[in-house]
Amino acid sequence: MFGAPGRVNLIGEHTDYNDGFVMPCAIGLGTRVAVAAREDRRLLIRSAQFPGEFEFDLNDLPARRTGSWCDYVLGVAAVLQQDGHRLRGANLLVDGEVPIGAGLSSSAAIEVASTLALMELSGITLPMVEVAKLGQRCENTFIGARVGIMDQFVSCMGKAGHALLLDCRSLEFELIPIPDGVRMVVCNTMVKHEHAGGEYNRRREECEEGVRILAKWYPEIRALRDVSSGQLAEHGAEMPEKIFRRCLHVVLENERVQDGARRLQAGDLNGFGELMRASHGSLRELYEVSCRELDLMVEAAEGLPGYYGSRMTGGGFGGCTLNLVEARFAEDFAGRISERYRVATGMTPEVYICAAADGAGVEG
Ligand code: GLA
Repeated sequence: MFGAPGRVNLIGEHTDYNDGFVMPCAIGLGTRVAVAAREDRRLLIRSAQFPGEFEFDLNDLPARRTGSWCDYVLGVAAVLQQDGHRLRGANLLVDGEVPIGAGLSSSAAIEVASTLALMELSGITLPMVEVAKLGQRCENTFIGARVGIMDQFVSCMGKAGHALLLDCRSLEFELIPIPDGVRMVVCNTMVKHEHAGGEYNRRREECEEGVRILAKWYPEIRALRDVSSGQLAEHGAEMPEKIFRRCLHVVLENERVQDGARRLQAGDLNGFGELMRASHGSLRELYEVSCRELDLMVEAAEGLPGYYGSRMTGGGFGGCTLNLVEARFAEDFAGRISERYRVATGMTPEVYICAAADGAGVEG
């Protein structure tokens, strides 16, 4: 049995596919995949949560998603085989507690755990970084979501008690300890999102358009990671206003990640909280990936005892907010924010008090 965690991102949203910086950590909610060999070359996939059983022929796997939850298992199997690995037939049982479509990377968790399970059974060894890249390729080519590397990377490489300051271009990272006295209170708006197609992919295209325009003046620019706020200010007026706002978010968010890592290391939680709020404002106004419920949840945190900062976490359009809260107030905060959100929306949120956890591995 193999396990892989979901994640929250402390800061650095929609920067990963721009070759930028992110600061996620793995969390205690995860996915487990139990695997057993079969004599034939079939894949049998079952879930402990959903009814039904999916059966595929390893000699003839679909090349694109089928529209079911089993796509994340099927997709990594397909990508492994495209890479020339020969898989053995397998029975796979998936179980987990990462809420689906809530911005906590349930899909990365199932991809990573399934990859490890299939590799072990077929005698394939790959470095964890390659496992992460494989999961991302499954999303990009099989599922059709042009996501970056953040979720799969931290699901593979997470470390208890730490966030990862990750450079999404070089994949070099630094472990940033999360101070003992704080908790991450994750609040699920209960509004589900979907990244395949739609707005997520459109944001990525808008960033690419920004790069194309800026490269006319700065030919060395390959991604928004290479753009400074000064360069953007210089030529902002020469691009469509919407594209300018998307670029501005990414450029400033990259600065906030680096600044945030320094503040967290210095134990400046109020300073880090300020950056979280600025990040949320930017995602709402400039990048336009928030939604009413996320904004209400962020507002609901304001003024509660022990509160440092709050922002949406993950791709957006629904899902969760991450709240940084003084440890001794975490339970009280969870109760109070639930009540405020319920009054504002009529919906009862799920609230998880999380600590930074280790990345994927063997479970038993
Ligand atoms: C999703 C994607 C990530 C990242 C975030 C936004 O979680 O899977 O690659 O782009 O959205 O920061």
